[in-house]
This record gives sequence, structure tokens and C-alpha cells, in this order.
Amino acid sequence: MNQYTKINDLPSITLAVQEAIALKSDPYKHKHLGAQKTLVMLFFNASLRTRLSTEKAAKNLGMDVIVLNVTDAWQLEFESGVVMNLDKSEHVKEAAQVISQYADILAVRAFPSLKDKAKDLSEWIINSFQTYATVPIVNMESATGHPLQALADAITIEELKTKKTPKVVLSWAPHPKVLPHAVANSFIEMMQSIDVDFSITHPEGYELAEDIVKDTPVNYNQEDALKAADFVYVKNWSNYKAYGTITSQDPNWMMTKEKLGSAKFMHCLPVRRNVVVEDAVLDSDQSVVIAQSNNRTYAAQLVLKKILENG
Ligand code: CP
Repeated sequence: MNQYTKINDLPSITLAVQEAIALKSDPYKHKHLGAQKTLVMLFFNASLRTRLSTEKAAKNLGMDVIVLNVTDAWQLEFESGVVMNLDKSEHVKEAAQVISQYADILAVRAFPSLKDKAKDLSEWIINSFQTYATVPIVNMESATGHPLQALADAITIEELKTKKTPKVVLSWAPHPKVLPHAVANSFIEMMQSIDVDFSITHPEGYELAEDIVKDTPVNYNQEDALKAADFVYVKNWSNYKAYGTITSQDPNWMMTKEKLGSAKFMHCLPVRRNVVVEDAVLDSDQSVVIAQSNNRTYAAQLVLKKILENG
């Protein structure tokens, strides 16, 4: 594997999940692989889990790690052919090549603007690093996808499922801020790739991109959609059609213990208590959010291992 920018970069998702689970029982087994190799992590946005779990994963493999918050560096220009006489001090063409001299793998987090849909869909930041960097790129959440989170979610479902084909429902939740579609997009793509009975529920008008959803069933009736669910993955996303707007904050879509039934509750975190999900769910044994976060380490470790093995 020579990059991980989307889940389909994995040669086999089934094998990746199994191998990641195996890594948990002996995390330092492959410590030789990363010796004298450096992971540079570039953050255009905040992070708790991705930053710590990816660094831990790299260190489990024996790698050195350098983290750069882009707000601490020179402001980058991404457009070609511009006269750089305003606030941008350095072009991504130089920056990506310079960082590649310090890194064996370059991981990037860059959220969408949620203002310019076409530009966000073009994945201009991560694609610019792919174009100009000379080392493998790992997506730590881009404008449209969060494939490390999706791999951790698949690992969590595989570990906790009690039937061959569990029913998994992605349920939209209200949120006061305009949030990206990346987590939902990658979760949908992951669920379409593994053996689950998968459906989506959200208020009418909150449809995600058709080329992501494809033929996955969408039910506007949350109560109906959640019936007999084994796993309920709750996530807010902002309106995709009326791009980057909030057209519903209906509190009736918040996840409650009553609505959850006997299902396991999943969320990528961070989560707003009693807005997205009530305390009674998060504080119950049905919540698996901490296990999901733990699996972020092994998802990242699997990805870094595959790239290191590729040389
Ligand atoms: N789930 C997730 O990516 O968390 P962070 O934003 O804290 O990295």
C-alpha cells in the first residue's frame, strides 16, 4: 500500500480489520519496521484522538514522529500562478517537497471550508500534498473523508458483533455548529464494504452525496429505522444540498436510551452531551465510544505498517 487517502486504498478491508485486531494483542511486534523512519503529522485543524492515536501507532512501530500545527507555520498558498503579494508566505509546492525531506510518511488533517462546495469536493489541500510531496500521504480527515475513523469503526463492529450480519444504522443528530460530512461519508463507504445490514436515517433535506449513498436505504423516520438495530452510529452533518448550512436543529433527533433499544451506541467523538446524545446513553454499557477511540490506534498502526512494508 503506498498511501491511505480513502478506504479503498486498503488492498482488502476484511483482511485489514483482522490484521488490526491481531495487532492489539502484540502492538510492539513490528517495532523494527519503523526504525529510522519518521512520520510527519500536519494539522490544519484541531484534534485529540487522531493526533494521539496516530502518534502512538507510529511509536508502536518504532517510528519517530514530528507534529506541526499549520497555524504555527507560514501561511500556505495553494493556487497556481498567483502573485503572492498578500498574506500567504509559502507555496505548497515548496512546503510539500521540503517536508518530504524530513518525512518517510506525511499525514494531513484538513477540514473543508463548508462555504465553497466545489472547492471542498476537489480536496484541494490533501490533493496538493499528494501532487507535490514525494512520500506516501495518510488522510487524517480531509474535506470529504475520514478513512482512519471508518477503519476503527469497522474494527469495533467486528469485535462486538454477536451475529454474522448485524443491523447497523447511521442516524443524523442535531448540532449547533456547521459540521463536515467526512465522518458520515467514510462510515457509509465502509459499511457498504463489509457484511452488515446497513441503512441511514436523517431528516428530509439532509441527504448526503448521491455518489456516496448509492443504493443504501434512507429512512426519514428515525424510530422506524432504528427497529432491531444492533449498532447505531450517531453523527451530525450540515446540510449538503444547501451546502454548509443548518436547516434543522430538531432536538427530537437526539439519541436517547429509549430510542437506542438494545443496540450499541457508536460515535466518533468529540460529542456534545444532551444535544447529540443524552447522558444516559453515553454513561451506559451500551456506549462503545471509548472502544472506538482505542481502535483508532490500531487502525492507524495497520495503515502505517502496510505503507512501511511497501518500502
Ligand atoms: N474522531 C476524531 O477524529 O477525533 P479528533 O477530531 O479528536 O481527532
